[in-house]
Amino acid sequence: MSRIAYVNGRYVAHHAAMVSIEDRGYQFGDGVYEVVPIYRSTFIDADLHLARLARSLRELEIPAPMGDAALRSVLMMVARRNRVRDGIVYLQITRGVARRDHAFPARIIPSMVVTARPGPPMPTDIDGWAGGAITVPDIRWGRCDIKSVNLLPNVLAKQAARRAGVYEAILIGPADQVMEGSSTNVWIVDHDGVLRTRRLDHHILPGCTRAALAGLLAENTISFREDGFDLATLKRAREVFLTSATSLVKPITTIDGQPIGNGAVGTITAQLFGLFAAHARAQAEQEAA
Ligand code: PDD
Repeated sequence: MSRIAYVNGRYVAHHAAMVSIEDRGYQFGDGVYEVVPIYRSTFIDADLHLARLARSLRELEIPAPMGDAALRSVLMMVARRNRVRDGIVYLQITRGVARRDHAFPARIIPSMVVTARPGPPMPTDIDGWAGGAITVPDIRWGRCDIKSVNLLPNVLAKQAARRAGVYEAILIGPADQVMEGSSTNVWIVDHDGVLRTRRLDHHILPGCTRAALAGLLAENTISFREDGFDLATLKRAREVFLTSATSLVKPITTIDGQPIGNGAVGTITAQLFGLFAAHARAQAEQEAA
């Protein structure tokens, strides 16, 4: 089966899908994106992703190319036409095509591209889902809350992780503060047993998986603190895990080559993975009903 992409109003063969060399996404990284997980042919937490997309566009003064209902049907069409049951849909909107000039063009016609690809199904073996991380300095800009396609520091960090043979690079900011992963949010169960993740501000991405998990914690009366922690606290934690559209709830059992806790997946991490998996299942079942 050939893959299909959506490019500016047309569904085209993936291999022939093109944007202009004058697209500002290509020239300046002047655009935003979303990655929406698909589980059993259902978008998980689509409302959260569309709300964050709208905010990213607003913050960068890029006009939305279409309303939410139309956007949803394009996403659904691309997922269906690529027969993705489990995987992701990727959406990118840029400030469009214009003669190269740093300032915004007088007339902005945003470019929009959507692709979908299959991925592994939801893991069933939590131990097999665990991975390691390294830590690297956070060299990003001051508006990491915007999901911009400007990802060079994240690319370099992830490549360092790949070279070290681990899953993720955790970004360390001023005063040794843990910011987030190169493409994930970071959570710990600290040495006193307190579940913590960094508060939201301009310096990290407000993860949709993070938000969904926070909602599940509230529903299940599991307390957590939106409270920053430093590198030493990270390394002394009983449990560390990551959240993202593709990582779900991902146990991290080593950091910079040292084991976290006893080096095994923690009980709270396993419990929260279970809660998130049930949350995804419930959305898929509701969609199917
Ligand atoms: N990344 N922090 C950063 C820097 C991210 O790039 C991401 C997502 C997250 C988690 O956000 P969410 O839970 O909404 O996926 C946190 C996506 C998956 C990516 O770039 O592929």
